Amino acid sequence: MTQLLLGRVLRFTADPFAEGPEAARLDEALVIDQGKIIAVGAADALRRSHPEAQVTDYGDHLISAGFIDAHVHYPQTAIIASWGKRLIDWLNSYTFPEEMRFSNFSYAQDVADRYFDLTVSHGTTSVCSYATIHPESVDAFFTAAARRGQRVWAGKTCMDRNAPEGLRDTAQSAYDDSKALLAKWHGAGRASYVITPRFSPTSTEDQLSAMGALWAENPSCLMQTHLSEQTDEIAWVQSLFPTARDYLDTYERHGLLGKGALFGHAIWLEDREKARILETDASLIHCPTSNTFIGSGLFDMGGLKAAGHRIGLATDTGGGSSFSMLRTMAAAYEVAQLRGRALHPSELWWLATAGSARALHADHQIGTIATGMEADLVVVNLASTPAIEQATRRADDIWQALFPTIMMGDDRAIRATYVAGACVHGG
Ligand code: GUN
Ligand code: ZN
Repeated sequence: MTQLLLGRVLRFTADPFAEGPEAARLDEALVIDQGKIIAVGAADALRRSHPEAQVTDYGDHLISAGFIDAHVHYPQTAIIASWGKRLIDWLNSYTFPEEMRFSNFSYAQDVADRYFDLTVSHGTTSVCSYATIHPESVDAFFTAAARRGQRVWAGKTCMDRNAPEGLRDTAQSAYDDSKALLAKWHGAGRASYVITPRFSPTSTEDQLSAMGALWAENPSCLMQTHLSEQTDEIAWVQSLFPTARDYLDTYERHGLLGKGALFGHAIWLEDREKARILETDASLIHCPTSNTFIGSGLFDMGGLKAAGHRIGLATDTGGGSSFSMLRTMAAAYEVAQLRGRALHPSELWWLATAGSARALHADHQIGTIATGMEADLVVVNLASTPAIEQATRRADDIWQALFPTIMMGDDRAIRATYVAGACVHGG
């Protein structure tokens, strides 16, 4: 069935960090057929050229590419908003005990379903997730995503030290299990497998080497891990890897740096690290609600984007304090303000859609609205609460109209979410 959606269609033709707000265009309508966008343009013209289409008129609601959350831990869904700890204590007190439960497939299925229901209701259509060390947790995630038709990324989290009994694998079992899961899920429908060593403190050099070997054997996979999130963590890495030049070097010397690497957080980077990340075109994933919630620090979005880094935006559920990419954009704005740079609404929206798609090397498939792209969409009500409505009423351009929703919006602003052309939330 061909569908014609009418509304304020926001799409990007370039990166607004480079081109300014003109990188975004507003159209009146788009046409979807067989899960893809087949036309974008003026309402009258598309009505005439597609008389057979079923029409849904969203009035003055915004129609955008769906949000893309480039770094999450779906197994941490139930421990979101756990009080009072910084990174290492937070992992030991809340995260590891919860992740232990994912050896049970039916528990993992239950959380995966809940996670996708929550994220889709917040307008998020794609995520890149860590699972736990258990293969069952990977199967549960990809099975739940496939049922919903979503484009997703995930991998078995590998840890062979500094984690409790029951949450450790070995260098060999991590390699074997990851390889088997990769063969099962990578490229199955809209799924992609991601090689996932959790972070240097929980992997021996042998395990990091095994992950590097697996990545070299499977270069079409992404590789995700954490980098320079908290100063205590960096000091710990230094003591565990006394001969490493810096935190990044613990990955680099095991073949875990390159295009397709995704480094979560990346707050306290040394100059050498920034230069090598740029040179290799690895991606940095900014997780602002997590960085404030766990007390990690202020990511340098302005400086790193100006230098040319490939950057995506993410919630880091459940270190992050929200499932909402609107709330995440607001936090990115606040963090950048504290570093002296006011991110424009076009830059924030781009980060949550096209920027994350680019960080995941999927910008030819998702992340903006254009002919040939997959029809993963969010329809946003720009007057979803009285507070937002009264602020947006006096707007005289789209960015003033959008910014109150960025700063104050949540799942109430999500009128509908489409995955591969099917309405999966709202209507
Ligand atoms: N570093 C290693 N593991 C984690 C995690 O689960 N969450 C966050 N925020 N940082 C990490
Ligand atoms: Zn994380």
